[in-house]
Amino acid sequence: METRNADEIFKEFKEHSVAEFFKKNRQMLGYSGKVRSLVTVVHEYVTNALDACEEAGTLPSIEVQVSQTGDEKYKVRVRDNGPGIPQAFAGKALATVLSGTKFHRYMQQRGQQGIGAAGCTMFSQTTTGKPVHFKSGTGSGKAYECDISIDTVKNKPVVTNVISADGEFRGSEITAEFADVKYENSDRSVYEYLRRTALSNPHLELKFTDPSGVESMFMRAVDVVPQRPKVAQPHPLGMTINDLLDLAKVSSNNKISAFLVEGFSRFSQNKLNEIKEKATDVDFNKAPRTMTWSDAESIIKAIKSVKWIAPDAGYIIPIGQKQMEVAVKNILNPDFMSVVERKPQVFRGGVPFIVEAAVAFGGLSGKSSEDGQHGILMRFANRVPLLYDAGACAITEAVQNIQWKRYGLDMDTQPISICVNVSSVYIPYSGVGKEAIAQEDEIMFEIRLALMDALRGVQRYVSGKKQASHEMSRYRLIMRYTSQLASDLGDISEKDKKSIEEKLKALVEMHYPKVRDSLSGEDSSADGSSDEERDSESDNGAA
Ligand SMILES: Nc1ncnc2c1ncn2[C@@H]1O[C@H](COP(=O)(O)OP(=O)(O)O)[C@@H](O)[C@H]1O
Ligand SMILES: [Mg+2]
Repeated sequence: METRNADEIFKEFKEHSVAEFFKKNRQMLGYSGKVRSLVTVVHEYVTNALDACEEAGTLPSIEVQVSQTGDEKYKVRVRDNGPGIPQAFAGKALATVLSGTKFHRYMQQRGQQGIGAAGCTMFSQTTTGKPVHFKSGTGSGKAYECDISIDTVKNKPVVTNVISADGEFRGSEITAEFADVKYENSDRSVYEYLRRTALSNPHLELKFTDPSGVESMFMRAVDVVPQRPKVAQPHPLGMTINDLLDLAKVSSNNKISAFLVEGFSRFSQNKLNEIKEKATDVDFNKAPRTMTWSDAESIIKAIKSVKWIAPDAGYIIPIGQKQMEVAVKNILNPDFMSVVERKPQVFRGGVPFIVEAAVAFGGLSGKSSEDGQHGILMRFANRVPLLYDAGACAITEAVQNIQWKRYGLDMDTQPISICVNVSSVYIPYSGVGKEAIAQEDEIMFEIRLALMDALRGVQRYVSGKKQASHEMSRYRLIMRYTSQLASDLGDISEKDKKSIEEKLKALVEMHYPKVRDSLSGEDSSADGSSDEERDSESDNGAA
């Protein structure tokens, strides 16, 4: 057998750029499956547009168009009215993996790693050989257009065909073509992704044109831009050894002691003294960037052994109960809904999060197929709809453990939509695809409580509805006999049949006041919402 020594073997030793890595492992970025890949593209562009608008304090108006250009080949165009990207940064933003404005910021935003946009550019390039076309106007100067591709070997952008665009243009518009993808109408489609995005972002106005040219308009339901998320300080208990080392490497402090007190929430001078007493092997006067693994290990161990004030949850921005009510009404127009916003909680000891849940019944809730109505679950993380990997998700697990019968509900046969949104600066995703939330005990527990709370509201409505439908059928049955009875009584008594009938009817109505009211359309006490609520904006649905 031929033998080779290390020198010979290591002639083949090469370094790869991070872009090269993701080109080979595109499933890690959500590019697996033709339908899902197309959803991923739309997701990356739309989340960037939303993040950018919120950061600029602009109410987002986004247009998405998907058109077919060939067999399993589609063009995607996403336009926003956000701040745009300065010309000098366009290449880096859209064609350098791991670059962006959101990296290393401990702040609640949809994007984080700086992979999304460049991933799309790479996917377009590797499936069609074409660059991405970008147009932008930042308001402060000239608008421009250009083509952007990525040199994956160097992980560097290639920007060509730069021209100036009409000066009025404000925002960003990305047009890119992709092959090996498929547009489909299903509950994991681009349309469904966008509908759910509209639901979790009531401040968004969204226009979608599908490949057959059908336009859907999701109207804005609230006129306020969500509060701009604050950059938060991490809580010591949320740190791993690795996290601590990463932060130490980029710290500008000159002592570990200052790095801890200034860089973390709830880290007082007293706490530092407690930690110093426990981590006696660490030199707290040396520079943070010289922190070793064993230093970090001792510090984390000490951190875990002392008492801490819970983290400040002020920098988590949920959808909010009021906004969610408006949003659900806007998109699902249900007969009844119950929305719950829970108080902030903490997982892994130091990471705060907030759970919100809405249960909607009737209207456009649930889904219908040939075999009737069904309930559906809509999962969200920081307002982003999660369409895939449902099985691995904490939300799915929590929903599965609900005893529906106790609430008089049946997900298999009733038009129910369950919406759950988990907000946090750090969402613990269970996979790189970021489509499922890890099954952390504290998160599952909160989701369960939120759901049970929301379901109690729906239960009251459903049992009221059952009672009402029972009364309605009795009412109808009796009413059916009134004219015959009036006619017979008229014959016997020789009195006016019409007035007998009217009196009989009034008598029945008196016994069934709720049915009378619901038929006259004035009130239904079975409906949990007030008149005022029902009247406002109920017809503001998606067309
Ligand atoms: N529509 C847009 N408007 C303004 N800036 C954008 C837009 N899309 C992308 N960017 C910029 O490009 C950067 C990279 O985007 P992306 O690769 O998706 O990473 P991430 O969203 O994780 O930061 C963003 O951080 C942002 O600065
Ligand atoms: Mg992004």
